[in-house]
Amino acid sequence: MNIANWVLLVVTLLFVRFSDGSLSSDGFSEIPKKFLDFAKRQEVVDWMVGVRRKIHENPELGYEEFETSKLIRQELDKMGVKHKYPVAVTGVVGFIGTGEPPFVAVRADMDALPMQEMVEWEHKSKVPGKMHACGHDAHVTMLLGAAKILQEHREDLKGTVVLVFQPAEEGGGGAKKIIDAGALDNVKAIFGLHVSPDIPVGQVASRPGPLLAGSGFFEAVITGKGGHAAIPQHSIDPILAASNVIVSLQHLISREADPLDSQVVTVAKFQGGGAFNVIPDSVTIGGTFRAFSKESFMQLKQRIEEVIIGQAAVQRCSTTVKFQGDGKPFFPPTVNDKDLHEHFQIVARDMIGSQKVSIMQPLMGSEDFSFYQEAMPGYFYFLGMKNETLGKLESVHSPYFTVNEDALPYGSALHASLALRFLLDFQPKISSSVGKQHDEL
Ligand code: NI
Repeated sequence: MNIANWVLLVVTLLFVRFSDGSLSSDGFSEIPKKFLDFAKRQEVVDWMVGVRRKIHENPELGYEEFETSKLIRQELDKMGVKHKYPVAVTGVVGFIGTGEPPFVAVRADMDALPMQEMVEWEHKSKVPGKMHACGHDAHVTMLLGAAKILQEHREDLKGTVVLVFQPAEEGGGGAKKIIDAGALDNVKAIFGLHVSPDIPVGQVASRPGPLLAGSGFFEAVITGKGGHAAIPQHSIDPILAASNVIVSLQHLISREADPLDSQVVTVAKFQGGGAFNVIPDSVTIGGTFRAFSKESFMQLKQRIEEVIIGQAAVQRCSTTVKFQGDGKPFFPPTVNDKDLHEHFQIVARDMIGSQKVSIMQPLMGSEDFSFYQEAMPGYFYFLGMKNETLGKLESVHSPYFTVNEDALPYGSALHASLALRFLLDFQPKISSSVGKQHDEL
C-alpha cells in the first residue's frame, strides 16, 4: 500500500463517520433533494415527458425494442454517456463515472404488451395491438432522467454507475439474458422500480426480504381413450381424470404448504372434448404457480408434476407435463437485500420525508428483476403515481392504463441518488482491497 492509498483509506474512513445517514453536516443527505429539484426543472420535465410520449406512441414487444433502444442510444449520445449495444438482443448498457470499480447498476425495462390501447389521447399507441400498459415507457424515461442527473454530477461519482436498459421483462426473461451476457459481472448492487397506480405520487413503498413471488407455468396433456359417451366402459375418460387432477392440485396449498408461507396454484386452462356424446381422447390443462421462496417454489413444481401424473394414473390415463413454454425461464421470487433496504430508506427519506416512504405487504405478482437478485444484492421498489384530483388510474396491464407523468422526476432522482450514495457508502468497504487488481466490467 503506497502513501496515496493510505491517504485514500484515511479519507474514506473519515467519510464513513460523517456520511452516516443521521448526520447532515457533510451535505450527502442533501443530495436526493438537490437531484429532485434538478429533475423537476421545467426543461428537464419537458424533455422527459417528450421522451416518454415518443416511446408510448411506438410500443415494441420483448426482444423487438429496436426503435426504443435507438432512441435511448441517441439520448445517451446527446448527454455524452458511453454505452454498449446490443446486449441481450436489444438491450443498452450505459456507464457514467470513473469507469473504475465499484460498479452499481440501475435498471429499466423497455418492452410493451400485446394489447390494444383503449385510451383516447394525443399520444396513443400508433401500433395496433401493442401498448405500453405496464409503464415501461416511463421506466425507460426515468432511467434516462437519472443518466442526465448523474452525468451532470459525474465528478462526484466515486466509481461507476451502470445503466441497464433491458429487453423483454414481460415473460421473456430479458434480465436473465443480460446476466448471461456477462454485462453485470463485478456489479456490487442493482436497483429497480415499478410505477404503481395505487401509491400516491411523490411516495414510494417496498419491503426488505420477499417482495414479489416466484412464478411458473405448467401445462399437462392427460390422455385416455376416446369413445361413445353412452358406453363409458369402452373408454378411458380423460375429462373425469383431469377433474380429479385439478381438485388434487388444490390440496397442495391447503394441505401441504405452510399456511404462513403464501403460495398459489391456479389451473386456468381446461380444454377437451367438443361433442355432447363423445368422450375425447385427451384433455389439456394448464395454470400458474407462485411462491415467495425458491425452496417452496421448487417443492411446488415437483409436487404439481407428481400429482398430475399420479392422479391421472389412478384413472388409467397417461400424462405429459411441461413447465413454461418456448424454453422461457421461471421467474424467481423478488427478494430485497436487507442492507440495501436500509440504504433505500435513508435515501428516500432524505428526498421525500419519512412519512412518504412506506413498508408494503408482499404481492403475488412477479418481476424478472429477480434474476439480477440471484446474481447480486438487489433492491426493487414501487413508485407512486396516484393523484385523486386527476381521476382514478387503472391498474397495470389494463387497456385503459395511464401514466401520471408527475412521477417522472421522483423516479429519476431516486435512481440517481440511490446509485451515487451507494458508491459513496461503498468506499470504505473497497478501501481494504486497494492495491488489488481492478475489476473490469
Ligand atoms: Ni411491468
